[in-house]
Formats: sequence, structure tokens, C-alpha cells
Amino acid sequence: MTYEQAKAALEKNGQGHVLQFWKKLSAAERKALLAQVETIDFKELARCKAMLSGEGAASAKKGKPTAPKVHELKGAALKRAIEAGEKELAAGHVGVLLVAGGQGSRLGFDGPKGAYLIGPVTGASLFYFHARKILALTLRYKTPIPFYVMTSAANYAATVSHFEENDYFGLDPADVIFFKQGMWPGMTPDGKIILDAPGRIFMSPDGHGGMIAALKANGCFDNMRARGVKTLFYFQVDNPLVEIADPAFIGLHTLEKSQYSLKLTAKREPTEGLGMVVKRDGHFDMIEYTEMTDEMNNRRRADGELYFKYGSPAIHVFDRAFLEKEAAKAMPLHLAHKKIPCVDASGKVVKPTEPNGYKFEKFIFDALADAKGVSCLAFDRREEFSPVKNAEGKDSPATCQADLQAKWRRQLAEAGVTVAEGVPVEIDPVYALDARDLASTGLLLQGC
Ligand code: UTP
Repeated sequence: MTYEQAKAALEKNGQGHVLQFWKKLSAAERKALLAQVETIDFKELARCKAMLSGEGAASAKKGKPTAPKVHELKGAALKRAIEAGEKELAAGHVGVLLVAGGQGSRLGFDGPKGAYLIGPVTGASLFYFHARKILALTLRYKTPIPFYVMTSAANYAATVSHFEENDYFGLDPADVIFFKQGMWPGMTPDGKIILDAPGRIFMSPDGHGGMIAALKANGCFDNMRARGVKTLFYFQVDNPLVEIADPAFIGLHTLEKSQYSLKLTAKREPTEGLGMVVKRDGHFDMIEYTEMTDEMNNRRRADGELYFKYGSPAIHVFDRAFLEKEAAKAMPLHLAHKKIPCVDASGKVVKPTEPNGYKFEKFIFDALADAKGVSCLAFDRREEFSPVKNAEGKDSPATCQADLQAKWRRQLAEAGVTVAEGVPVEIDPVYALDARDLASTGLLLQGC
């Protein structure tokens, strides 16, 4: 993009100030600024601006939210689901989607969150555990399982390097597809793009919901179709307990002919910060925990259980064709009021002490409203969910490592191995993905 083209586009959209320091910029800064302007989707920018003036705000949702049906698979139903899921996996119909473009600000780690070292014994990274589980599935079902990894523009290079430095953790690099999500400019309350340096626009990733547009923009749907992938398992980078492409979950989704399926877990306490799947007016919807009222959080059923018992830790299965259709639509936008570094009229960088601008994000669960079939599956949190969100306290590396250890100890105990208290335990997913694998490695275990 040339200076003239950038100027024309920016001025047409009321953003001419972006080039106000042009004369003072070095050649490299000018090039970088033009490259940033080139990435701006001015149609989407207009939607962001409309949100600020209230015009684009989502209209109040109609209908009283009710709790959806949640499957608790047991016995024959569980067996049927596992068989159906294993059939899909063995047929090569399943791909894995990881969203890893977040900024991990609560953890405060300098690098992509997936490179955070979580292994209690080996110090292996979050990416290691995810990739090794996919390798284990590839070996178990004797078919490649493509791994689509979404990063932001900011953490793309570091993410790819982490995989390269670790030889892709044993995966075939051809089956690991990295793609970048969109980045959006931050805006002042009156809709002006914020510069955080005289030659740089403040940009932030467009949220996990940005995945749908990014899959399309990066040709990932074509890649999936060429590979025969019909079903996608979706998860977040910070949960090393996740059971990737759990056959029971894939199977339930397939048997129910769903377009969007969710794993749900009983809330730890009524106010736990998990999204709540609800049904209203015939559609599924997610209510963010910040939007749950006290009454909703504490409502009880006749048997004493919470009425809104289950929360979503963002473990989903999607129908590929459904996501492709969604990619043709504009997803709702969500605003976050933040302290955004900016420049004053002289070009000096200012660090605000109060929120001064807005970031815009799309949320993946907004696609729920369009899904024709939705299946919800309850799971045991101890086995599958312990995210690394904060540096300390709840949902921190310490709690996650303790939960990993407890899970591995339970698996070892099931295989007849007792490990003395206090001895750290770690199991490479390729050695044993689950208790079933451990039991079949009995000889090796007896020798250790
Ligand atoms: P979180 O909401 O936990 O955000 O993301 P985060 O960025 O990792 O951490 P904080 O809030 O700054 O502390 C949930 C999942 O969605 C991904 C994250 O990488 C994580 O796997 N995500 C989030 C994206 O891929 N892109 C985004 O723009 C936002």
C-alpha cells in the first residue's frame, strides 16, 4: 500500500490523524505503519465505531433463559458414543483446533502462553502436552489428525519457533497448520484509532471468535476439505488436562447430528466464572458469568441442585460445514474498556491511569445462536479441566500442576501402581494417553 492509498482510505473513514506524524517517521517506521493500515478492514472498523455510539449494540435478547438438556453418558449410551467417535477418528474425519492467540495478561508470562512450562517433572510446555496427545491419537487411530493452531500476529513467530525448536514434539510438521487471527485497532470513545507510538497503531487480537474468519482467510477450510475433515475439536491453550478429541464427545456430536457441541462441568460454586449455556426462544445462547444475576446463580431445582448447574470451560466440537457458513456472517462485537498507551499531540507516549479507549473482540460462543443442533455433555472436572489463568492462587500453575499430578496418580493406581506420597509424577501422553493405555503397558510399569 502506498502513502497516497493509505491517506485516501483513512481520510474517507475519518481516521486521517493516523498519519499526522508521517514527516517525523523513519523509512522503517513508515513501512511498518503502511503495513498496519493495509490490514484494517474498514467495514469492520465502521461496525466497531457504531458500537461505541450504541448503534451497533446487540438488541436485548428475547425469551427467558432455561437450562439446556445435558447428557451424562453412562453404560450402553457411553459405549455407543465411544464407538461412534472412534469410527470418526479412524476414518480421518476429525481435526483439532487450538486457539492460542490470547495475550495471557493475567499470567504475566513473556511469550506465547502455550510455551509456558508446566510439566511437574520434565518442565515441558503446555504446547508439549497438547501436541503429544495428538500424536498419541494419531498412533492409536493410525491416521493423521491435523492440528490447526491459531496465534495472534504478535505471538505467531514465537509459537512457530517453539514447535520448531522441539521438533514439533514428534508430530509431522505437515499436519500442524499455524494461522493468524485478525488484529483490530483500539479506539477512543469517539471512534478515533489510537496510536501507541507516533508511527504505530495500537492493535489487539480480535478475540477467540476471530477464529472463524481467520480459518477462512487463511485457507484452512480448503485444507480441511482436502483432507476429508468433517468434525473439529476446539480447545484453549491453557488447560493441559483437556482430553483432546475425546471419542465419547465426538461420538455424541456425530450421533446427535449436532453442529456445535459443548462439554460442561458442574460449577465449583454458584458464582464461578464460567459461561452458562442456556436455551431461550428456541435458540442456544451463552450467558457470560458477569451477566448472571444473583437469582440465576443461586436458583435451585426441586432436588436441591443448582438450576444452572453446569458451566462451559470452552471445550467444543464443531461441524466444519457449520463453521464455514458462519464465516460468511459478521459475528457480534464485544467492547472492553481498557487503559491503552497512546501519544499526545506532540507525539509523546502517555500511559493512562484510567481506561481511555476500547478494544473489540468476537466470542466463539456467539455462533451458538445459529447452530441447528447443539449437544451438551457433562464431564468430571478433576479429569479434564484445570486452566492456567493466573500467576498465583486459583487457576494458577500451582493448582494446575497439583491437578495434573492427581490425575496421573489416579491413572497409575488404576493400573495397579502405587507411587509414594511426595514423589513427582508425569506421564508422556505418547507413552500412555489414559488409564487404558497404562494398563496395557503393565510389563513396563512393573519394571520401573
Ligand atoms: P482468555 O480469555 O483466557 O485470555 O483466552 P488470555 O489472553 O489467554 O488471557 P488473559 O485474559 O489476557 O489473562 C481463552 C483462550 O482464547 C485464546 C487464548 O489464547 C486462550 O486459549 N484467545 C483469546 C485467542 O486465541 N485470541 C484472542 O484474541 C483471545
